[in-house]
Amino acid sequence: MALLGSSQIVGNSSSVKFPAGFPAWKRCGSKRNVGFRIFASETQSEPDLSVTVNGLNMPNPFVIGSGPPGTNYKVMKKAFDEGWGAVIAKTVSLDASKVINVTPRYARLRAEANGSGLGQIIGWQNIELISDRPLETMLQEFKQLKKEYPDRILIASIMEECNKASWEELIDRVEETGIDAIEINFSCPHGMPERKMGAAVGQDCELLGEVCEWINAKATVPVWAKMTPNITDITKPARVALESGCEGVAAINTIMSVMGINLKTLHPEPCVEGYSTPGGYSAKAVHPIALAKVMSIAQMMKSDFTDKDYSLSAIGGVETGGDAAEFILLGANTVQVCTGVMVHGYDLVGKLCAELKDFMRMHNFSSIEEFRGMSLQYFTTHMELVRMQKEAIQKKKAMKKGLASDKDWTGDGFVKESESMVSN
Ligand SMILES: Cc1cc2nc3c(=O)[nH]c(=O)nc-3n(C[C@H](O)[C@H](O)[C@H](O)COP(=O)(O)O)c2cc1C
Repeated sequence: MALLGSSQIVGNSSSVKFPAGFPAWKRCGSKRNVGFRIFASETQSEPDLSVTVNGLNMPNPFVIGSGPPGTNYKVMKKAFDEGWGAVIAKTVSLDASKVINVTPRYARLRAEANGSGLGQIIGWQNIELISDRPLETMLQEFKQLKKEYPDRILIASIMEECNKASWEELIDRVEETGIDAIEINFSCPHGMPERKMGAAVGQDCELLGEVCEWINAKATVPVWAKMTPNITDITKPARVALESGCEGVAAINTIMSVMGINLKTLHPEPCVEGYSTPGGYSAKAVHPIALAKVMSIAQMMKSDFTDKDYSLSAIGGVETGGDAAEFILLGANTVQVCTGVMVHGYDLVGKLCAELKDFMRMHNFSSIEEFRGMSLQYFTTHMELVRMQKEAIQKKKAMKKGLASDKDWTGDGFVKESESMVSN
């Protein structure tokens, strides 16, 4: 049984809640409260994982990211049954017949594999396109899911060519099914950019602004813009999306990659008829890169978009509750998981929730909002790090420094004074 820290020191049996980051000394505000220590189990109620994002209520912040885990009715139903906070379906477009996939379309990077193929998967490349299932089929399945799970959050991911009427038609059709929100895929790095879709729009701020305006003039549900990391400064398109009416930003989609070259055959992977094409990198290996992108977007949102209920959905390499906590500490409202589900299965959500609760208990956080964005304040420029370190070293030296000259000599504390003069 853990003793509580100073943040839980209370003077009676009811726990006093303080805002996150509230100095410990101020928490013992009245004399009555000082000196009482009580045990965690006496006061701690179960941490609350529920979140409300753009008016959407979710039992937890864990969202199935668009991709194979949201490819059809059966798997999305499984996701709801396992307890995922929300589900984002595989990206749909008006004409699925134009979407032609190849096989193989995945390649994996393993740790400690030594070529055995048995190591833990740390990186995943795909050259999969958006959904190749007929739109009508997907729409019927959305309708069915909303009928069976009216209180759960189903989000449609959509993508279209740069044509206003096409976007309007697609929005109309997905909204008719009763979905709760829309995520716009401005970020698929392969295949679709050749048709001026996906990352081709997300990398062109002018075009992005125009398309976002069409979308937001039409949509009646919250809209999240999913950003590509394959751009120099991800905050630029994220800002454009929010300025153009989107309620939220999601980041990141996959990182442009070439998984490797087979040293026996000399052909690249994944190998289709002897050839390959750069694809999208995901899984554990991308988590640090995703953290950096999410951190930049969160800083931008904090400085420029505080007036409205804008949201941030973080994505990239989440496999543990700790990975999710990191994103939330940077300011994310929700955390999406795609490859993690493909590697570990839908019941991963149970482990994610349990681990996130463990983290919250460790710090006595009772809700997600209590620690959301808390670590953002600890990022600064490298120049500032140098300045702070110089200041800290000077302070330490000053504390160690003894008497500078004979005139400071008093003779009191003879041993100390003489030693300090010798060490100067
Ligand atoms: C096989 C595969 C297919 C994907 N398909 C889509 C898609 O259709 N639409 C989309 O927005 N993102 C798609 N993604 C990207 C993921 O949603 C996610 O942004 C990315 O993989 C990083 O998260 P992760 O490390 O949790 O997978 C796909 C990812 C993978 C691995």
